[in-house]
Amino acid sequence: MASSNRPLLSRLTIQLGLFMMSGREATQAVHWALQAGYRGFDTAQMYGNEREAGRAIASFLSSRQENRENLRREDIHYTTKLMENGTSYDSVRRSIKDSVEACGLGYVDLFLLHSPYGGKEARLTSWRALEDAVESGEVRMIGVSNFGVRHVEELMASNPRIKPVVNQFEVHPFHTQMPIRKVCKKYDITVEAYAPFARGLRLKHPAVVELANKYSCTTSQLLVKWAMQHNMVTLPKSTRRERMISNVDVGGLQISEQDMRAMDNLDEGFISAWYVSGPAGGSRLRWCEELTQRRNPTNAA
Ligand SMILES: NC(=O)c1ccc[n+]([C@@H]2O[C@H](COP(=O)([O-])OP(=O)(O)OC[C@H]3O[C@@H](n4cnc5c(N)ncnc54)[C@H](OP(=O)(O)O)[C@@H]3O)[C@@H](O)[C@H]2O)c1
Repeated sequence: MASSNRPLLSRLTIQLGLFMMSGREATQAVHWALQAGYRGFDTAQMYGNEREAGRAIASFLSSRQENRENLRREDIHYTTKLMENGTSYDSVRRSIKDSVEACGLGYVDLFLLHSPYGGKEARLTSWRALEDAVESGEVRMIGVSNFGVRHVEELMASNPRIKPVVNQFEVHPFHTQMPIRKVCKKYDITVEAYAPFARGLRLKHPAVVELANKYSCTTSQLLVKWAMQHNMVTLPKSTRRERMISNVDVGGLQISEQDMRAMDNLDEGFISAWYVSGPAGGSRLRWCEELTQRRNPTNAA
């Protein structure tokens, strides 16, 4: 099995999430984020903004005026995700190639299976297609998303040529996901914690507000730091420039062990991210509806 690429990932503990951004919003957000110091970006085939996100990165890198630090492609970490697992190796392979081409960055740093849906054969066939994309140089690292304990065990038991470096799933103090975090630790799989603000639905929680006051920070900063202190990559999303800057301004913040425990104890099993609202078209909408009905993908067959 190939070894994981931990040094690269650990440099990128905060990445900008691009979910629910239109192409235009993603173009603007990526530009502002690069100016603000973000170096990692998380998109997906499902988000419909791979092309714009990738092109915005490429355009920033090639602009002498904007790119004052002389950043190169390898300084950026670009993640995307396969929308649907499939039992047809060729169509999955084509879909991966389409994403690589759409972003215009030459290669994708991290490609994830977006969910475990589709059954075992589809999961393992899709994984094989990702492994081959690494071997052909289109993709640098591969991982999974929304995989539950059973799905990770199944993949590891299949003796993959390349082991997953990441499992990306919803984690915040209101859903701490200990069983799957433990399994990820067992296999040295980095956890990427998505929806760090529970999609904005817990930013005014009284306990979080109280702790934010204690540390003289914002509730969003507290939630970002909580994930970082648990050694998880965090993927805060905002389309607003001032929030993007402020959300990750956590350099001087250190949450005490006691307060970390108090935050862990806020767990209420709250799942925010599979309720997809707002504009989405065609098959994307059907896919979202299917996910919404099933509610928690980590339980998928
Ligand atoms: N793999 C998966 O299945 C999956 C699922 C969900 C998410 N993700 C990834 O994780 C990323 C983050 O998750 P998410 O976008 O669902 O939710 P999130 O980051 O938890 O929350 C985003 C929401 O919080 C608002 N917000 C951000 N900063 C704020 C602030 N300082 N004050 C008040 N509101 C604030 C944003 O609004 P504004 O934009 O208006 O600021 C947006 O409505 C996604 O973008 C995506 O990359 C992955």
